[in-house]
Amino acid sequence: MKTKFILSGNDLAFFFEEIKKIIYTKDYLELKKYHHHGKISTYSHSIKVAYLAFCYGKKRKLKLNYKELIRSALLHDLYFYDWHDKHNGIHLHGLFHPKKAVKNATRLYNINKKEKRNMAHHMFPLTLIPPTTKAGWIICLCDKMATAKDYKAMKLKKRALKNLKTT
Ligand SMILES: [Fe+2]
Ligand SMILES: [Fe+2]
Repeated sequence: MKTKFILSGNDLAFFFEEIKKIIYTKDYLELKKYHHHGKISTYSHSIKVAYLAFCYGKKRKLKLNYKELIRSALLHDLYFYDWHDKHNGIHLHGLFHPKKAVKNATRLYNINKKEKRNMAHHMFPLTLIPPTTKAGWIICLCDKMATAKDYKAMKLKKRALKNLKTT
């Protein structure tokens, strides 16, 4: 049986110390308005990716700049629209939103070159260029893991509601 990885108290404290510099800012709170997958907001999704990415690195004792990893993961989907809305004038969202997120994160959170690279290719293999950093690969993978978890949670909720109606 797989044992669940648990962060140490110090690592958990470090994680919260880093995310709170961003997640309570006015611009970041805007992400709560937008649905990412089903009813899950871009805000929740992005925090989940940051947490998964941090755990991924810590579990494997990877040598990384964890501050940059957390910041890049938190900001990887920093765009301000609902991608489900067909009337928002946005085309090919999947392909172009990483660039928009990098642009917004540069403007609003002054991200460095490495953080830009960590974010830029998180949609690989949909976008053809693979991540160019170790942290970028972790974010790319954890983004998919978070998405799978989001859809699984939605499916379970749907099934539970269906069962409640029939009982
Ligand atoms: Fe994304
Ligand atoms: Fe994402």
